[in-house]
Amino acid sequence: MAEAKRIGVLTSGGDCAGLNAAIRAVAYRAIEGYGFRVFGIHHGTHGLMETPVAAEELTLDRFDGNILRMGGTILGSMNRGDPFAYPMPDGTVKDRSDEIIDGYRELGLDALIGIGGDGSLAILRRLALQGGLNLVGIPKTIDNDVDKTENAIGYVTAVDVASEALDRLQPTAASHDRVMVLEVMGRNAGHIALSAGISGGADAILMPEIPWTMEGLSEKILDVRQNGRNFALVIVAEAAQLPDGETVGRRRSDGGFSFGGVGQRVSEMIEKSTGAESRVTVLGHVQRGGAPAPRDRLFASAFGVCAVDLVAQGRFDRLVVWSNRECRDVPLADGIATSHRVDPQGTLVHTATGLDIYIGDPGASGAV
Ligand code: F6P
Repeated sequence: MAEAKRIGVLTSGGDCAGLNAAIRAVAYRAIEGYGFRVFGIHHGTHGLMETPVAAEELTLDRFDGNILRMGGTILGSMNRGDPFAYPMPDGTVKDRSDEIIDGYRELGLDALIGIGGDGSLAILRRLALQGGLNLVGIPKTIDNDVDKTENAIGYVTAVDVASEALDRLQPTAASHDRVMVLEVMGRNAGHIALSAGISGGADAILMPEIPWTMEGLSEKILDVRQNGRNFALVIVAEAAQLPDGETVGRRRSDGGFSFGGVGQRVSEMIEKSTGAESRVTVLGHVQRGGAPAPRDRLFASAFGVCAVDLVAQGRFDRLVVWSNRECRDVPLADGIATSHRVDPQGTLVHTATGLDIYIGDPGASGAV
């Protein structure tokens, strides 16, 4: 009898809600649907670098309980340490890509399903091309910036969390006559801010894709007051630039850049220019944790099943995507070629302006 196919699954990059639902779907489809064996690799590609490889065989009893509903990833993840320029303890960088390829061979894998954002998927693809690995990608990221998919796993939950935060800020803003500023994640994309701002009733939405001015924002807040409302809600994407072009964040010790702090700066500017009292809330990783929203479980489950189907068909170097109400697949290279950012001419920007939400100037030069 022929040996069962062996497929690996890993989660790579920043975690988000819905990853466990995707791992579960991969295991179900592979084991029940095709009789494959499934190996969960720990901490993304790092598990394949270890000796022996850090992985566990996944069996369906692992998924009997609460895993579908759980945030995080049972496999662990890693968003540091590019294997092609891996930072070593002595301060040097080393190309460790061959160790990962060796790990794939050591596990005897016939295929690998990588659940990641555009950065992680690009690294996985490079590894696959170098080592001849059979790779299928599943898009996940709260930022929702993976191109060619309407939804990446984790985005819906993050928007729900941010919308709920605005729901909670509104009564306290009204009680104290304040302008509440909510800073949300999203890296270089303003999708979370835009969607949550619309659904959570924000008066202003500031995003990295659309330039804004302090005069415009102040005018909006003063208008709200003049019209008899004593409070306002402002949502700011972490990478939104200040009017002078500054991006707020910090250089990390590993050389990378972490966004954070723009909300505080905007809040101070509002106080100064309008005289209104303002407070800031930074949602941070709260947007990534917690139970996945049902729609994220749904996307994750569909992606997991479709990804295993691609493996069974021998169709590799593909990315499963959600498009036009269906799970489809595209060349992985197309999914990672460009980052999907807010379209200043798109429906949601049009919706926001139609609701008289201040978003800056979508037509301004420099808007992407
Ligand atoms: O890409 C997901 C994300 O949560 C971004 O929205 C955010 O800028 C970043 O990751 C935070 O990364 P870390 O968990 O390393 O602080």
